[in-house]
Amino acid sequence: MRVVEAFRSAFGADPETVWHAPGRVNLIGEHTDYNDGFVLPFAVPWGVTAAVSPRQDNRIRLLSMQAEGEPFTFREYEEATGWARYAVGVLAVLGDRVRGADIAIDGDVPQGAGLSSSAALEVSVASALNELYGLGLTPMEIALLSQKAENDFVGMPCGIMDQAASALCREGHALFLDCRSLGSRNIPLDLAAHGLSILIIDTQAHHELADGEYAKRRAECESAARKLGVDALRDVTDLAGALELLHGDERKRTMHVVTENHRVEALIGLLRAGKPTEIGLLLNSSHLSLRDQYEVSSPELDVAVEASLRGGARGARMTGGGFGGSAIALVAEERLDGVKESVSAAYAERGWQAPRFLPATPSSGARRLV
Ligand code: GLA
Repeated sequence: MRVVEAFRSAFGADPETVWHAPGRVNLIGEHTDYNDGFVLPFAVPWGVTAAVSPRQDNRIRLLSMQAEGEPFTFREYEEATGWARYAVGVLAVLGDRVRGADIAIDGDVPQGAGLSSSAALEVSVASALNELYGLGLTPMEIALLSQKAENDFVGMPCGIMDQAASALCREGHALFLDCRSLGSRNIPLDLAAHGLSILIIDTQAHHELADGEYAKRRAECESAARKLGVDALRDVTDLAGALELLHGDERKRTMHVVTENHRVEALIGLLRAGKPTEIGLLLNSSHLSLRDQYEVSSPELDVAVEASLRGGARGARMTGGGFGGSAIALVAEERLDGVKESVSAAYAERGWQAPRFLPATPSSGARRLV
């Protein structure tokens, strides 16, 4: 394994453990996690592999095969910058529970595609440290720790979905997660048996406002919940009544979150009933709600969705935080080429950079490789 070789040549010994953690796409349940709601992501075949050994001197040495140059050595967590913050953040959150570590990282999550390469990095490092320092953390505790690293150390106020997906997913399954109770279930997702596949369309477009707008959406949801006298928008049971009490953006955000939670439950119902061919309409309505009520889509995502549907997809939506990144399309195998051609043509017509197509098969969550 090349990450083991990189570790050996940088640090002069074999790593004591090697863990792999994947990125994710979300089938449905977008911007619901931090509203205590429901999500249904699955792990993608790409991820981050971390080769790790403990150190007794509180130092952290860190190298990434995707970054040039010598390994970084940190004595203080705050010295970490860029991608290194996601790994060092995990050590910072663990604090006294761990001492130092030598870490080599190799990743193949397509960058900037919104497939949670950062969660994969956090969860791979956290899983390795959990083993090496005998912390006895469950996969969900590893996810929570990783989320805390991202919230408190990196400063991105994300919910729990990405890290939970990376830690808990199972091959051939999507992960149904109740983001309040943190109860989860692996739901079989054998689309191939129905002649279907999920195509990821990476728009290759990234909008700078993503982080600021994300924090703003969270604040709007929290403010709406306060006005409605509930702990979180998850608790709204009378949507019509709630909408009468709200105005403007908060009204729209509430409409999205409440209906999106219903869509997650409806989609799971269809999967359970063995009718995955029928989930397309739910994907489409999720997209429209994200575009019009939650306002986190982008022209590139909208065109990817519309052109997929014109090309014969059974359903499509943006996935992840929005403002760029990827869309997913549910496509019958025989329509795959048609969908790709339709999206490529629509992008070319507008003079946009060509999108990237990635086949998404539901893969395994974090696992020890060596
Ligand atoms: C990002 C965040 C997640 C989630 C999604 C939107 O991926 O990291 O916690 O909020 O956006 O569903």
